[in-house]
Amino acid sequence: MTITGPEGVAVYDEALRPQFHFTAKSGWINDPNGLVYYKGVYHLFFQHNPASTAVANMHWGHAVSDDLLHWRQVDNAIAPDEFGTVYSGSAVVDHNNSAGLQKGNEKTLVALYTAAAGRNPESVGKKFTQRMAYSNDAGKTWTKYANNPVLDYIMDENRDPKVVWHAPTGRWVMALYMTGERYALFSSPNLKKWEMIQPEIVIGGVGECPDFFAMPVEDHPGETRWVLTGANGRYLVGTFDGRTFTPQQEAAKSDWGRNFYAVQTFSDMPDGRRVQIAWMNESKFPDMPFSQQLSLPCELTLHKEGERFALRRNPIRELASLRKNTTTKTNIPLDGAANPLADVFAELLDIEVEIELGTAKRIIFDLRGAAVTYDVEKSELFCVQRTADLGPIDGRIHLRLIRDRTSLEVFANAGRRVLTNSALPDPNHTTLSLKAEDGSATVVKLAVSELKSVWR
Ligand code: FRU
Repeated sequence: MTITGPEGVAVYDEALRPQFHFTAKSGWINDPNGLVYYKGVYHLFFQHNPASTAVANMHWGHAVSDDLLHWRQVDNAIAPDEFGTVYSGSAVVDHNNSAGLQKGNEKTLVALYTAAAGRNPESVGKKFTQRMAYSNDAGKTWTKYANNPVLDYIMDENRDPKVVWHAPTGRWVMALYMTGERYALFSSPNLKKWEMIQPEIVIGGVGECPDFFAMPVEDHPGETRWVLTGANGRYLVGTFDGRTFTPQQEAAKSDWGRNFYAVQTFSDMPDGRRVQIAWMNESKFPDMPFSQQLSLPCELTLHKEGERFALRRNPIRELASLRKNTTTKTNIPLDGAANPLADVFAELLDIEVEIELGTAKRIIFDLRGAAVTYDVEKSELFCVQRTADLGPIDGRIHLRLIRDRTSLEVFANAGRRVLTNSALPDPNHTTLSLKAEDGSATVVKLAVSELKSVWR
């Protein structure tokens, strides 16, 4: 689908337009906000300057989808006012009408956001507060709550409320960023009045954009832990009784790439999945009417690895619906001359490969100018100026490489390591290669799929 803009110029087919990653039609975007599912529709709100590609004038932009891949941008949901511009936050479905705002049959969708005072001339001299907006028409239109703020200023630039329902106590819980590496938790029966329940939780190595959710522990039926993440994905794992979150281990890293920030997961998923989207911060889009892109939606799972808990992250299963022309090869020896990717010229790619390491010192992919290298001796995976430690499993590594026009995401060993990277296309470099250096290795299995653009 090509959409025609005001001057008859086609939007969504510009030279640097991502083909299956979310971007706005025009203007600046950053954090994903208010991720929520309601009645067959995924809602994606996002930090947005609709007026230009400059970082300013934050609104909540809005897009909808029925598969997390084909997004349709609709009217902006929340606009700046005399209390500030509209910073990041979250949304939930108020199933029990706890806020008493439901009119008619649709459940109320409730958004909690930060009014960033001082970021527009009308709000100078005021302080950052947490506010609510709601929708009675399944997310089409949004009204600011009359008795805002729902949580008054506490300290510094307190911001980015993320709300979750805690079923055992029948209360809502809000995680809020306070300052430095500090976060706090609040509790509410009705989303309108919040009580602080835990004033200080430190997630080492990160600030901003908390997310807080329960996860089943894979392969341990009946076991659940709570996960608290910060903007760059670093996370704590622990227990939560509705009043106190008790972390059980030090903060862990969740992405080893260059462009991964402001993570948030969907509320009210229909199937219990935990699907996370990040802003691919620092992406460059020279001469484009839009700036910045969001990561591929990914599914999180929680695993016990020895004494520790670890999140793994993999692309949502819906991505397979964009595949076409899949070719599969098995047992290909990799030595000096072989290049099992010599016959691949597609731009948009989903490549899965399992490699038996053998005697090679390095395994090197070149994906249209973007290099992915595995250093066998150091057990390190390198991609776009970033490195992740990656131990082989039974002498093998498994990689899933997702190449869009302006990005390369690498999922290693079933989501144990992920590198999320922006990568601009190189028009002079349209070939792919895979080789082993200083010895040989074996490609146990290689599956190459071309991906369809969501715009066609
Ligand atoms: C993170 C962040 C948030 C804030 C928003 C403003 O990228 O700084 O803390 O709410 O962006 O756009």
